Amino acid sequence: GKSGYDHFMLKEINEQPTALRQCLSGRVDEVSGGVTVDELDDLDTPSAVQFVACGTSYHAALYATTLLHEVGIPANAYLASEYATTHPPLPNDTLVVGITQSGETADTLSALRNAESRGAETLALTNVVGSSAARECDHALYLRAGPEIGVAATKTFSSQLVGVNLLVERLRPSGSPTGELRSLIAGLRDLPGHVQQVLDDSTALELVDELFGAEAFFFIGRGLHYPVALEGALKFKEITYEHAEGFAAGELKHGPLALVTENTPVFAIVTGDDEEARKTLGNIKEVEARDAPVVAVTDGKAEVERYADYVLEIPETHERTSPVLANVQLQLVAYHMAARLGRSIDKPRNLAKSVTVE
Ligand code: F6R
Repeated sequence: GKSGYDHFMLKEINEQPTALRQCLSGRVDEVSGGVTVDELDDLDTPSAVQFVACGTSYHAALYATTLLHEVGIPANAYLASEYATTHPPLPNDTLVVGITQSGETADTLSALRNAESRGAETLALTNVVGSSAARECDHALYLRAGPEIGVAATKTFSSQLVGVNLLVERLRPSGSPTGELRSLIAGLRDLPGHVQQVLDDSTALELVDELFGAEAFFFIGRGLHYPVALEGALKFKEITYEHAEGFAAGELKHGPLALVTENTPVFAIVTGDDEEARKTLGNIKEVEARDAPVVAVTDGKAEVERYADYVLEIPETHERTSPVLANVQLQLVAYHMAARLGRSIDKPRNLAKSVTVE
């Protein structure tokens, strides 16, 4: 049942601290600073990784490529439906990873089969033990998020981002600095509690009244926040039926800025106070100059408050875990807007939980 929640989606949003604890359980060791994934014991570090996935899982794949680049492994993310059409070359020793919550998405299975038939080693990052992807791939890494009933992926996306961290640390070529890994492990350890802090914040709910009736909703982010901008927009359009689009912050001025008016709120994700954050601040100023309402999703370090009309706060944490927190704020915005519009939140029109046709 829904355990007293109005929708499975809200229940599953609130289950995220538990889902993340389960995903991490027994897999990270704070004392040794190590990551172990029992089911991947026989996996070697590949020379390159190709991800194939659809929808929300594709956003996790984009995030994953940036992490792999950080540890020096070339990686690409492909939409599964395009992969099977364009069959990118598979250099020797490439690992092909299908990210699929259900493990039953036809496009993703077809891309994995295509890679397998060309001799690649394959891995499924999935929530469902015994799913087709898990059975067909050479390796499987399980999310342990528990069943997800709502069509919109919520807790499984957060778990995918954590699962991708486990995978990348497992693949990290040896000899990398352990201090770096310790701070990541601390960020992961704190994540369930940080997510709970975001869930306890009612700002997203209050914001819905302010933004109600807007013409379109845009989401921008840079680096690891770019996939979250795409995911924020996907979730929003899926369940509110309002027009929403996500953009890389730096791409705004290359076209999308033409759409920005005082009737198009822009959600801008910006954390830390480094060069990356300063560049996103510049993009926020471009938007603000067109009188668009700006909603900053931020840990407060970038001093974005000066240019933002509204602020959705997230706790300060490791740069790899802050996208998870930013995404939870955007889940809440989408959910409360959809509830306010009286939408069919758990079963949005035209959509199915598991898409088993290509
Ligand atoms: C969005 C959503 C879909 C799925 C996509 C892939 O909320 O749920 O975009 O992410 O259909 O599904 P899986 O991960 O099961 O392969």
